[in-house]
Amino acid sequence: MRSALFVPGDSEKKLAKGLGSGADALFIDLEDSVALDAKENARTVAANFLKTSVALKKRPQLFVRINAFDADMFEEDLAAVVPFAPDGIVLPKSEHGKDVTRLDSLLRVHEVRSDIEDGSTKIIAIITETAVATLNAGTYHRSSKRLTSVSWGAEDLSADIGAIRRRNDDGRYRDVFRFARVQTLLGAVAAGVEPLDTVYPDFKDEIGFHHECMEAMFDGFTGKMAIHPSQVPIINEVFTPSDEDIQLAQAIVDAFASAGNPGVLAVNGEMLDRPHLRKAEKLLLRAAKA
Ligand code: COA
Ligand code: MG
Repeated sequence: MRSALFVPGDSEKKLAKGLGSGADALFIDLEDSVALDAKENARTVAANFLKTSVALKKRPQLFVRINAFDADMFEEDLAAVVPFAPDGIVLPKSEHGKDVTRLDSLLRVHEVRSDIEDGSTKIIAIITETAVATLNAGTYHRSSKRLTSVSWGAEDLSADIGAIRRRNDDGRYRDVFRFARVQTLLGAVAAGVEPLDTVYPDFKDEIGFHHECMEAMFDGFTGKMAIHPSQVPIINEVFTPSDEDIQLAQAIVDAFASAGNPGVLAVNGEMLDRPHLRKAEKLLLRAAKA
């Protein structure tokens, strides 16, 4: 998944717009972008949207971000949306791999009730929204087969630790947030799932956004979350491997294959060993998915 566009779950207009945004996934939000007294309406709007959109032939993946476990609304959220077979659930404020395992069990029950195939609802977890969560980013290995990606968030984390600023004047995140970002990247790879970079709230700043996408791509993130449709094409462009990258990766894979899969070889005077091969294979996988 390259681009995932957040859409407030109570906005029919934005949901409709999201379908044509070009995003690989929509994150239909029942959590932070929906006011407390609008939660019930958002569940109804989100459910109706899923009812009409899931069957569309060409559409983004449809995930629903439920409210966090500590808010005690997740049961109503799941009961409202799982019957309409979203592709997955986004779990905010996940503090440990055990939270994902707990959601896995809840989904099993809702799937049985709705006559949906066991295991078909995927999970994406946001894993750095508290200090505890950030320190536990390495606990997601084997948490659930449903887990496909993890991402991170700076807003709730800054509230949890009482940080006054998240970024320096040059736009770079300050250390605590860079730590959370790195924890997410390593936690994802350790768990064998995709690392998804966090949102960039200043949606009018295209240059800053492009720069942050590039940094994330260089570091190994496979995609980024968006809050505005204008951010989607930038994400898709940055996270789609170029033809040149694909050719190079294919040449490396071919060179290893035709040399009988050795540990190390030379191509154009450059040493290539197993990590180069693994990296090339990963890039080809990403290209195939895009
Ligand atoms: N998904 C789908 N459509 C969106 C959208 C989104 N996230 N954000 C904006 N749009 C639509 C608007 O409805 C508008 O449609 P129109 O041209 O048909 O009127 C168009 O895109 C341009 O929007 P714009 O006027 O630039 O922004 P806005 O002031 O309407 O909205 C936000 C700004 C931040 C409120 C809006 O982008 C938003 O709701 N983002 C998602 C917030 C969210 O889900 N946060 C939780 C995760 S952090
Ligand atoms: Mg939040």
